[in-house]
Amino acid sequence: MRVLFVCLGNICRSPTAEGVLRHQLQVAGLADQVHVASAGTGDWHVGKAPDARTCRAALSRGYDLSAQRAQQVSARHFAEYDLVLAMDKSNLAHLQALRPHAASAELDLFLRRYGAALDEVPDPYYGGADGFEQVLDLIEAACQALVVEIKGRL
Ligand code: 4NP
Repeated sequence: MRVLFVCLGNICRSPTAEGVLRHQLQVAGLADQVHVASAGTGDWHVGKAPDARTCRAALSRGYDLSAQRAQQVSARHFAEYDLVLAMDKSNLAHLQALRPHAASAELDLFLRRYGAALDEVPDPYYGGADGFEQVLDLIEAACQALVVEIKGRL
């Protein structure tokens, strides 16, 4: 199974989701059966490591994001992944426009499908440290629900 997380810059929210899901799959013994990646709708940060604030907040909870490099999402991703999960509604709208008609990949809003209180992961880029903690809180909880679904699908 192949899962792609998508946000705007691919340096804050989707790299966090990639790192958290990969960690949770390792804990569940499923790391070999699921390929996890992330991408951005924008191209400003292509090739760069995640934002330093994102890396710091994630590392403090045990997720090392330092090996990740940003990439821009394209139509080919819909052939390469089974599940494409958008962090907010703007990302989802971008992906809906990009998605080829015949694509088999499922496309959904990450928190609408797996979250509880909010249906979007708020963009932390222009805010304070609290925003990065909230991103982690929302993503950790939703990834737990995603892992349950993955177990059922494998
Ligand atoms: P992300 O956050 O979409 O969670 O990676 C952002 C990163 C960079 C920018 C915006 C959002 N930016 O405008 O450069």
